Amino acid sequence: MKTITPPQRLAATLQLPADKSISHRAAMFAALHESQSVLEGFSDAADPQSTLQCLKALNVPVEQNGDTVIIQGLGREQWPTFSEPVTLDCGNSGTTMRLLSGLLGGLGLNVCLIGDESLSARPMKRILDPLQQMGVDIQGDEQGRAPLRITPGSPFKPMRYPLPIPSAQLKSCILLAGLFGADPTEVIESVPSRDHTERMLELPVVEKNGRRYIKASSAEVIPNQSGRIPGDFSAAAFWMVAGSIHPDADIHLQQVGLNPTRTGALDILRRMDAQIQIENEVADAKEPTGDLHIQSRQLQPVEIGSQEIPNCIDELPILAVAMAFADGVSRVEGAGELRVKETDRLAAIADMLTAAEVDFDMWEDGFEIRGKSNHIFEGTVFKSYGDHRIAMAAAILAMRAQSECQITQPECIRISYPTFFDDWAKLTG
Ligand code: S3P
Repeated sequence: MKTITPPQRLAATLQLPADKSISHRAAMFAALHESQSVLEGFSDAADPQSTLQCLKALNVPVEQNGDTVIIQGLGREQWPTFSEPVTLDCGNSGTTMRLLSGLLGGLGLNVCLIGDESLSARPMKRILDPLQQMGVDIQGDEQGRAPLRITPGSPFKPMRYPLPIPSAQLKSCILLAGLFGADPTEVIESVPSRDHTERMLELPVVEKNGRRYIKASSAEVIPNQSGRIPGDFSAAAFWMVAGSIHPDADIHLQQVGLNPTRTGALDILRRMDAQIQIENEVADAKEPTGDLHIQSRQLQPVEIGSQEIPNCIDELPILAVAMAFADGVSRVEGAGELRVKETDRLAAIADMLTAAEVDFDMWEDGFEIRGKSNHIFEGTVFKSYGDHRIAMAAAILAMRAQSECQITQPECIRISYPTFFDDWAKLTG
């Protein structure tokens, strides 16, 4: 249990952990590059570390020196083969399991991908079906869940694949497998999701009639991945909301990743009238960055439609907290994917709002919050369900309680933001 005492003031300049999505990809793509990549500022959060551990288990030369990770890439040709299946523990990380399945399925390595209890309950059929259509011999359990077993030796068939779910993990999985076909595999996206894979692999993308057509084949040269990984926008979102709903806040966040397919929560908070300034923007980088300056503000209600969901999917728990303090009715539609995250995040959000005496309704794939700028509630116990984003959202919500609150299983924050409570101490100290 972690006890949260509502702070008087929030003021500090923070350097956030490296972006989780980019960290996973930088490590995997560096392993596929032909020579050495030096990844600076690599996240020490548990999820990206799971990816590194899996690469090490496959005998990829990975050296870790503080937050610098040096990877000696094996290209496409020099991966070791294994007579016995190698067990790869993806921990809690869906990105590790889904992206590695595409990459290792394309390579045709003899592996078994396993995960913790939460990951083993998450849907994998969404990647198993298309990978099997591509000729990858990959099997899950009877319900299409982990453990996932890849067996080498099947002929590879490129594919044209309209994404049935707007998921960057699914898109990336197919594209990574596609890198091993002589003819291009094409993924068609009608609702844009985060595009780190396309950017970091410099894949050809055509935009036509509101759709994105992305191709990958063995002709693609895998770029060197050396460079500094930007701060995690999803981590920034917690302080963007904290600074907005706290009456006395002045927060600076340095070098935050501002890839436009990730910053939905910034647009939404600005629609809510939040006072968030971008400074020192580097917009023309492969992965754009900038500093954020956040100050207290009375928020307005907002509506979030299904087209916007992929761009703020991980930020919805903390956006729900913002909505609780916006005078009027806020609504979120088409967010059913939240049910299959690290936990059923819609159910967890409902629990959190109930504990904080917030007036709301929830249905299968969305919710409505009737917020009040002066909302106040009795100190309570928030259940995190061992989900990092729920634990952190509840901690920020607890800032507005009348008295102390408790968060269950607070150690789960290590999945994406191990220094969350250190940064909390800097802000409130
Ligand atoms: C991620 C994509 C999203 C997101 C997850 C990270 C990625 O998942 O929720 O935290 O790095 O590609 P989906 O693509 O399954 O929605």
